[in-house]
Amino acid sequence: YDNLVVLGIETSCDDTAAAVVRSNGEILSQVVSSQVDLLAKYGGVAPKMAEEAHSQVIDQVVQDALDKANLTESDLSAVAVTIGPGLSLCLRVGVQKARKIAAIHQLPIVGVHHMEAHALVARLCKRDLQFPFMALLISGGHNLIVLARDLGDYLQLGTTIDDAIGEAYDKSAKWLGLDLRKSGGAAIEELALRGDAQSVKFSVPMKQHKDCNFSYAGLKTQLRLAIESKNIDGGVPFSSASVEEQGIRADIAASFQRVAVLHLEEKCERAIQWALEIEPSIKHLVVAGGVASNQYVRSRLQEVVGRNSLQLVCPPPSLCTDNGVMIAWTGIENFRMGRFDPPPPAIEPEDSQ
Ligand code: KG4
Ligand code: ZN
Repeated sequence: YDNLVVLGIETSCDDTAAAVVRSNGEILSQVVSSQVDLLAKYGGVAPKMAEEAHSQVIDQVVQDALDKANLTESDLSAVAVTIGPGLSLCLRVGVQKARKIAAIHQLPIVGVHHMEAHALVARLCKRDLQFPFMALLISGGHNLIVLARDLGDYLQLGTTIDDAIGEAYDKSAKWLGLDLRKSGGAAIEELALRGDAQSVKFSVPMKQHKDCNFSYAGLKTQLRLAIESKNIDGGVPFSSASVEEQGIRADIAASFQRVAVLHLEEKCERAIQWALEIEPSIKHLVVAGGVASNQYVRSRLQEVVGRNSLQLVCPPPSLCTDNGVMIAWTGIENFRMGRFDPPPPAIEPEDSQ
């Protein structure tokens, strides 16, 4: 299993992604086609629309990934594909593509769990990262903190009881009238740099709960009320607002971000205590998922981790947001352990059209 070449396909949400990765950790190619234009236009993803968008680009995205790697389908050792969690209509587009390639070339298939992939890609970035380690996974749909004891053996320490932090970032961007052609989170991060993070008094969620769970629905409501009380109309694009109002919007963004991240800090701190009691040998906290590409989030968590004598492992932004590399890599990790499905019944390339 030392010289595998694996194609990874990811279609669980609004990005269509593919990548080719070698088992020695070399990334041969990485392609992402995102539905940002649709998102900006409609302010969200509708499953049926997302499915069509994936179907339209999947063949090209996979072909580009192979071309950039200078390979053809027949050079592959296996195909890895996200099988969940995610929108089932969207997942199916990726799974069907993977099955088609696997059937034509008689390749094994590795079904990959999207959140496991967000965590394990850290082992590609930092090749000496050993189990057990902790992982905080923060994205649009998930907010999880786990103790990764071994491949496939994850102890959940906390999760969100309602919304994930990325969802809160996305809504704040929308309500503040930001340009959604980049992700809502990235837009808030940028605007927050210009604001006063102490100006709006948001309260930190779940202070009274002595657990490691998260909640962002209440903060979303606080945010909406703050926006209303300052008479801000999110329907007016940020760039069209008066200079004074732009300043107020920046203050709200900065204050929101401070408290949203403070909540992560507090729960992480407790989760580290819990995890160290279970596995005193832990040395690392992995932070991954789209929100982990945020520099403010990284620097605040760096503090928490440092205080507890652990090391922070944060993949580069392109491997934090949804991507094919993490799927290919998790496919490789599982394949090496014999965890894969045999090739589907053979078909000729012509039959597959
Ligand atoms: O992992 P991901 O690409 O997709 C999911 O699995 O959900 O995460 C997407 C989320 C979105 O909510 C997006 O706004 C957020 O990650 N995000 C950010 C940043 N870049 C992406 N949040 C905060 N700061 C960023 N720079
Ligand atoms: Zn994700």
